[in-house]
Amino acid sequence: MSNEVEVKKADFFEVIRERHSFRSYDPSYKMSEEEIRSLLEDAILSPSSSNLQPWRFLVIQDQASKEKLLPIANNQQQVVQASIVVAVLADLEGFKQAELIYGRTVDNGYMPEEMVKAYTARLAGFYGEQPERYHNTALIDGGLISMQLMLAAKARGLDTVPMGGYDADKFVEAFNVPANLKPVMLIPVGKAVGEARKSVRLSVDEVTTWESF
Ligand SMILES: Cc1cc2nc3c(=O)[nH]c(=O)nc-3n(C[C@H](O)[C@H](O)[C@H](O)COP(=O)(O)O)c2cc1C
Repeated sequence: MSNEVEVKKADFFEVIRERHSFRSYDPSYKMSEEEIRSLLEDAILSPSSSNLQPWRFLVIQDQASKEKLLPIANNQQQVVQASIVVAVLADLEGFKQAELIYGRTVDNGYMPEEMVKAYTARLAGFYGEQPERYHNTALIDGGLISMQLMLAAKARGLDTVPMGGYDADKFVEAFNVPANLKPVMLIPVGKAVGEARKSVRLSVDEVTTWESF
């Protein structure tokens, strides 16, 4: 593990089979800040387009903040019961971080400076002229990190539920979310109580085409 909090080794196949959306949590279970940071450390190992890492997190931990979120999230009780709610946000201007990120790549000796300069200029041209080209990319990266966060939580014996059932405009207003950050989803994280609702999957044959449509 890359971070300080000790996490017992979890079997990957068990983690992906045992992750379910849990909608009831033990409200007395509180994650420490160290545990939250450790979870996010694992989540941010997720891949992203051009490694621009446009994910931003708003961690909602205080009970008062969760209560404020409750009506915005259609009174779904998991937002007040779970230890934290992580709002995953996509920075629609994430391409502006290129110089910072690639600069560190150079500092670490992972890329020559000339290559980084050319790459940064190309990105600035492509997205700078039409910033909306980046929006979809930022949202895709937001989806990837959300999944990684949920699996990292499960590997720690915690549970989650991805949530799109909330009023994004009201959320942005209530939590002063800056205009460049678009909510991707809310993810309550905590100690689940009871069983998850069972769900089914379409078969591989139903969702897969080989070679060409
Ligand atoms: C983008 C997205 C939004 C979702 N929104 C909600 C939600 O608002 N409330 C909820 O209870 N579950 C929500 N879910 C959970 C799905 O219902 C759940 O993932 C699906 O039924 C499959 O069940 P499983 O996660 O237990 O495998 C959402 C899932 C995704 C991926």
